[in-house]
Amino acid sequence: MTPSDVKATLSFSDGSPQIDLPLYKGTIGPDVIDIRKLYGQTGKFTYDPGFLSTASCNSTITYIDGDKGELLYRGYPIEQLAVNCDYLETCYLLLYGELPNPSQKEEFVNRVTNHTMVNEQMQFFLRGFRRDAHPMAVMTGLVGAMSAFYHDSTDINNPEHREIAAIRLIAKMPTLVAMAYKYTIGQPYIYPKNDLSYAGNFMRMMFATPCEEYKPNDVLVRAMDRIFTLHADHEQNASTSTVRLCGSSGTNPFAAIAAGVACLWGPAHGGANEAALNMLEDIQRNGGVAKIGEFIKQVKDKNSGVKLMGFGHRVYKNYDPRAKLMRETCHEVLNELGLHNDPMFKLAMELEKIALEDEYFVARKLYPNVDFYSGIVQRAIGIPVPLFTAIFALARTVGWIAQLNEMIGDPEYKIGRPRQLFVGATPRDVKPIAQR
Ligand code: SDX
Repeated sequence: MTPSDVKATLSFSDGSPQIDLPLYKGTIGPDVIDIRKLYGQTGKFTYDPGFLSTASCNSTITYIDGDKGELLYRGYPIEQLAVNCDYLETCYLLLYGELPNPSQKEEFVNRVTNHTMVNEQMQFFLRGFRRDAHPMAVMTGLVGAMSAFYHDSTDINNPEHREIAAIRLIAKMPTLVAMAYKYTIGQPYIYPKNDLSYAGNFMRMMFATPCEEYKPNDVLVRAMDRIFTLHADHEQNASTSTVRLCGSSGTNPFAAIAAGVACLWGPAHGGANEAALNMLEDIQRNGGVAKIGEFIKQVKDKNSGVKLMGFGHRVYKNYDPRAKLMRETCHEVLNELGLHNDPMFKLAMELEKIALEDEYFVARKLYPNVDFYSGIVQRAIGIPVPLFTAIFALARTVGWIAQLNEMIGDPEYKIGRPRQLFVGATPRDVKPIAQR
């Protein structure tokens, strides 16, 4: 980061001494005011719950321009990566900073492919869950449990351990997600097959049975691979910040990624794709397109607690570029499956049209985000709704690891330890219980 020749001067109306704070410039995006010495010089903290105006780190991985609706992975626009690259090329880019050449790609794909099996003991964790356990509950457990198996790659300060843990996590997440799914439907687990692509292997582990050969549909496999790419990383979102904060204590990478899985589950974050599909199904059940006006009225009524799931974003105040690509993928998949008249897709497009013309949403700059269409395309592919967020976690694992490794690799990093504005009780004496 480049020191700016502009300084920020902080002065106080009570005559306290003013201080100068340095500014730093990034390559693109907002400058930052360095407040690291603020408490030492003024005895005061900054106050920013929800981190609306706080940069937690400097990073070279992902850049988002919320006003323009732009998303870059290592400088490459998501629109170009989604069309010209596959997910494992994107993983390589996020981890190492450059797109792989053919031999680098072949070597990376082989490494990932040869780590797709999980220890046979892991299947016994699943038996402890009820068959109707939510897949994200299972995944939170399984990913954390990986640290019990891979003692040779748990030292987060060892670059080789970080590298092998990254490959293991990227390679094994599809296997674990498919196992979580098979467990809920009482079918046997399907082992990975090394002659399939990453997404093709995942689809086979999800939908094959030992009773007959499974031939992945190339259009659906490509759509699945693109869904992975669109979800791979997204700057300092809630789950990535969770992984960074968790990893900053020096815990092992599997535990830090498990914390990210747990955070992603929330409906305000990765759980929104499941919530958005459930919302569309509710509207469909209650009358479909004809009932959209009534639903929008509910959303605008603050007391209803109803939100338009899959809409709005902390950073994007324009159309989420991933939502556009997801909508295109929807078209491709539904056409391939002869579902171009899918009522859910029609309902979603009508809901989007009405919302984007409604002053309530326009005034608040609420646009569809990545979660609005992702559920429709996953449902069309045959993914059960409760598994949507687990697939988001599968895809985001590479972003979490890349961001974690970037932090640990920064010689300046410290354990994250925010402070607070205390508004509780001032010191008081304990009274014996007889006097309380
Ligand atoms: C993801 O951070 C990331 O990058 C996340 C993510 C990633 O890739 O990691 O992009 C993935 O999590 C996408 C977001 C998925 N979540 C949803 O779709 C859930 C619905 N969206 C909202 O919960 C909300 O928009 C958030 C949580 C996404 C953002 O919330 P903010 O930035 O805290 O904004 P806010 O809640 O303060 O909303 C501002 C206003 C409020 O109204 P007023 O109080 O100003 O009157 O907009 C309203 C909100 O009530 N609003 C909505 C709304 N989202 C915001 N009203 C109705 N429906 C919505 N979806």
